This record gives sequence, C-alpha cells and structure tokens, in this order.
Amino acid sequence: MYQWIPVAKPEDIPPGQCGEFMAGDRMVAVFHVDGRFHALDGVCPHQGGPLGKGALEGHVVTCPWHGWQFDVRDGQHQFAPSVRQPTLPTRVENGQILVQLESDESHDSAGPSP
Ligand code: FES
Repeated sequence: MYQWIPVAKPEDIPPGQCGEFMAGDRMVAVFHVDGRFHALDGVCPHQGGPLGKGALEGHVVTCPWHGWQFDVRDGQHQFAPSVRQPTLPTRVENGQILVQLESDESHDSAGPSP
C-alpha cells in the first residue's frame, strides 16, 4: 500500500536546486532538474549525510559530508555500480510536490475500524 505525501511547494525548489524535507518521519531529498522534480531517500548510505543539502550539478548530487555522488534520476552512485540510493516517485498536484511512500513508512494507520 502506497500513499502520496506533500513535502514542499514547487517554488520552494528553484530549477537546479534541491532541498531536504520530511515525509512522515522519513527524510527525503528533492531535486529540480530539467523541469522535473526527483526524490531520493535523503539519508546518504555512506554515513548518513543529508543528500538534500548537497550540491546539485546537472543531475548529480554530491553529499555534503564526504562527496559521494548520485544521479538524482535513478539513485545510481557515480563510481560504485553496486550502490544505488532508493528513489521515490514524485508528482505535482494542487500546488504541492508529493512523494510516494509505502503507507507504513509514514505510520498512517488508515483502515477500517473493527
Ligand atoms: S555521508 Fe555522504 S558521503 Fe559520507
């Protein structure tokens, strides 16, 4: 089960920029590249650095802590083929950027009451 979580407004992330946002209790990094928004899990797999506060150059973000680099479109590490940061689907709706999470990731317990 998945759900869409609003994380920011499009104007919060100008073209060529990125940002760090909370979706439920999960940190996500959102990037504005080539007219589209892309989202990655915001916690760097190296030592937990904030990818949403990294430097974005083209479609590659550089982690601010130790310089690991990822393609924001598919999460692929630029030098280690076996490392891929999880991506999150995005869409813009009603003036909000939404990211898609598994519903249990946001601790939403929607469902019928007994
Ligand atoms: S924590 Fe991101 S490169 Fe080390």
